[in-house]
Amino acid sequence: MLISVIGTGYLGAVHAVCMAELGYKVIGFDTDEHKIATFNKGEAPFFEPQFGSLLGRHLASKKVAFTTDAAQIADADVHFICVGTPQAADGFHANTEYIDASLENIIKYAKAGSFVVGKSTVPVGTARRLREELLQRRNGEIGLVWNPEFLREGFAVDDTLNPDRIVIGFEDEKDVARLKEVYRPIIDRGTPVLVTNLETAELVKVAANAFLATKISFINAMAEICEKVGGDVVSLADAIGHDSRIGRKFLNAGIGFGGGCLPKDIRAFQARANELGLDETLSFLKDIDAVNHRRRHRMVALTQMFIGEELKGKRICVLGAAFKPNSDDIRDSPALAIAKMLADKGAVISIFDPRALENVKKHFPTFEIAESAEAAAKDAEIVLHLTEWQEFRDLDPAKIGDVMKSKIIVDGRNALDLDKWRAAGFVAMGMARAAHA
Ligand code: UGA
Repeated sequence: MLISVIGTGYLGAVHAVCMAELGYKVIGFDTDEHKIATFNKGEAPFFEPQFGSLLGRHLASKKVAFTTDAAQIADADVHFICVGTPQAADGFHANTEYIDASLENIIKYAKAGSFVVGKSTVPVGTARRLREELLQRRNGEIGLVWNPEFLREGFAVDDTLNPDRIVIGFEDEKDVARLKEVYRPIIDRGTPVLVTNLETAELVKVAANAFLATKISFINAMAEICEKVGGDVVSLADAIGHDSRIGRKFLNAGIGFGGGCLPKDIRAFQARANELGLDETLSFLKDIDAVNHRRRHRMVALTQMFIGEELKGKRICVLGAAFKPNSDDIRDSPALAIAKMLADKGAVISIFDPRALENVKKHFPTFEIAESAEAAAKDAEIVLHLTEWQEFRDLDPAKIGDVMKSKIIVDGRNALDLDKWRAAGFVAMGMARAAHA
């Protein structure tokens, strides 16, 4: 079986090497020449544990290859659509132009009898529209199912090969059987398969991300209350998390969520509901977004509380730039949004991140890039811990304190052992933490 993967961003590149790992021959197609050349050299354009080794192994075994020539998808039996659907430049809705371009290539090149598997996150109704177009323009000789992807950055390979569930939206039973055949090794490991219609499959993805975003903003709203009354949000999360109906995961309060998925997905979902005439249905997601942004402003306010309103010329050490640990992705990163707000007020930002500094250099040229946490802390008036990498948990506070102008740290992720920092003479504060929780 030959598989084509259309779009080799995060999702597509990982999917391509994972399909090769399952034993298939895979051709990855993308219009970005630089990216394709990078993959073909065996290099990963992003940091993702396990991805690089799978890429190297399957390039060597010739199971996977990458191309910018769309005609090379012609012999594939299955076409996975994995292109991005970023937020549109002129509103909240998703930009689906890359989905449409993928379909054009499939209509032009795909062989009769092949079938399409949509994996991208799309506005509900997209899959049916694509299916109808395929029916009209290729006379029903190419099938289509929708199979959303739930991988998390940092765990992308494992999430692809060992997913919690496989969701398949379909119109034609025969295509479901074919996709199950592709995923046979994963299904045989006992992975639940949920088969439903096209619309539900599309909705499962955005509903899951909206729920996760809601969970994070819920606990961050509780953080706001705790801050007002002297409560401790970590103890609160622990206590409600023991209720198995609630669960402790995704109840970490701090500076909120970012990344290339949750923020744009909750906005696109609202935009789609509005198009459907359901303006009020998802209006709560606007509040979810607002709570999330208020956490970034809260961190700026805390910084000013400690080192003064006037930030002009003041050195601030920022630990963390990626939107979350084990990633070099800086899209909508809360850490960088906060650093930018502080820089706009005149602060000098000295920043360190174990993986994301190359991306920071490109997009935030005015920030001082440090080679270690200690170097970033040199002469700083305050340390802001904004992405919870393990190596920041392991820092020696005494070493950091020695080089700083004043020993103050704010833990924006509630991930550090603040007592350890206090023992080294720091004024240390978390987000919505009570003194004696
Ligand atoms: C998210 C979903 O978790 C995946 O299931 C989904 O497939 C993916 O989006 C996608 O749509 O492609 P990801 O963006 O990799 O995955 O990141 P998450 O682990 O969900 O974290 C998102 C943000 O929430 C991060 O900024 C993280 O720091 C923040 N977060 C997470 C919190 O602030 N608190 C928490 O308790 C958990």
